[in-house]
Amino acid sequence: MSSAPFKLDANASSESLNSAYEQLHAQHQKFIADGLSLDLTRGKPSTKQLDLSNALLASTPEDFLDSTIDLRNYGVLDGLPKAKQLFGTLLGVDEETAEQRVFVGGNSSLSLMHYTLWFAHHLGLHAKQQAWRKEGDESGEHIKMLCPCPGYDRHFSVCEQLGVEMIPVPLTGAGPDMDIVEALIKADPNIKGIWCVPRFSNPTGEVYSAATVARLAELPKHASKNFYVLWDNAYSLHAFTDQAPSLASIEHAAEAAGTLDQIIQFGSTSKMTFAGAGIGYMASSEQTIAAFRKHFAMASIGSDKLNQQRHINFLSDLASTKDHMALHAEIMAPKFEAVAKALHDHFDDSDLGVWSNPQGGYFVSFDTRPGLAKKVVALAAEAGVKLTPAGATFPNGNDPEDKNIRLAPSFPEIGEVNKAMQVFVNCVKLASVEQAMQQ
Ligand SMILES: Cc1ncc(COP(=O)(O)O)c(C=O)c1O
Repeated sequence: MSSAPFKLDANASSESLNSAYEQLHAQHQKFIADGLSLDLTRGKPSTKQLDLSNALLASTPEDFLDSTIDLRNYGVLDGLPKAKQLFGTLLGVDEETAEQRVFVGGNSSLSLMHYTLWFAHHLGLHAKQQAWRKEGDESGEHIKMLCPCPGYDRHFSVCEQLGVEMIPVPLTGAGPDMDIVEALIKADPNIKGIWCVPRFSNPTGEVYSAATVARLAELPKHASKNFYVLWDNAYSLHAFTDQAPSLASIEHAAEAAGTLDQIIQFGSTSKMTFAGAGIGYMASSEQTIAAFRKHFAMASIGSDKLNQQRHINFLSDLASTKDHMALHAEIMAPKFEAVAKALHDHFDDSDLGVWSNPQGGYFVSFDTRPGLAKKVVALAAEAGVKLTPAGATFPNGNDPEDKNIRLAPSFPEIGEVNKAMQVFVNCVKLASVEQAMQQ
């Protein structure tokens, strides 16, 4: 299979299109005959990454001794003090204030986000009269959420479940387009929040600029009291190199702006230790965490403190967590280099695709020519390469231009990533040529 950049001239003759089609189709048939079974659908850590945390499995009863708390029993709803300190520092919260400003619970940040929205919608996070649903019922208007796109499909499904209307907002490469965000919020009091994945965004990989962070921290000033910036910092420590762009502290910006009550940060160890057997955490102002805790107390008598203690023992502090994440980066970086190389080799200087070159996180975002994402994903599936469904990166699964595809190369081994990319680039070319033949 040729790896020279592929050109598709706007004035290509039907003969040259037919000939390109024949070659690409033949290659596609060969891939089908190979009977591949490769999966680039979800951002899952690979087995080698999971192995990095196997020490978590090797605990002894002494590891769980605590002079004040019997970790085996109920209680301590909002997390062990040391867990709050550790995970608070990962979100930029000072150790001194972590006790009041951090909540550690469960094994997933997504469930903490889901709870937050559920409480805000049905009960009012801070006060009953501020429940979104009540406001919606009284005004007869939809409650709305701003969704920078392309974005994380599960943020969108939470909104969908609650009947919250999603308003797509473009991303700029340095975060959401803030002129649009501010204009929308000023014009519509029914907009109650904005989803943000500020570092190595899912799927574009972009890092919000300091100016964007500052403007986001100011947003609550233009909005109603029950408006929240949902700061899903899932990939805060997931850089591939030390040179990757850092993220300005929303903590500091919010403190300066006096908006901390309405800025809620989330994170988890899902992609640091064991996905699904890690720890979820969140941080906000003392008042907001207290409000969340009060609601959460109806749902739980306390989280798994044994797992919290295991994580404290294993990760210890910010510095050693960063060292641990450097080991993840050694495994991840070559896979992302393989994706970047395949795209570069085949599509540089062509207009068949535009893609992100993330310096961390779990995803690469690829835009086909408009109208081709679904087709490419279907062709890849035919050839044994599963990709995230086209459209998943937009609210209600609807990519208006049908062009965005999320590539998630973390789970397969490098050889499989290379193979999957050969299939993928051929599918993009094939779909693009077919489209050109129909025009
Ligand atoms: C942006 C983002 N947030 C949250 C999650 C899920 O995290 P958790 O496992 O902590 O629920 C993911 C997983 O892919 C993600 O990409």
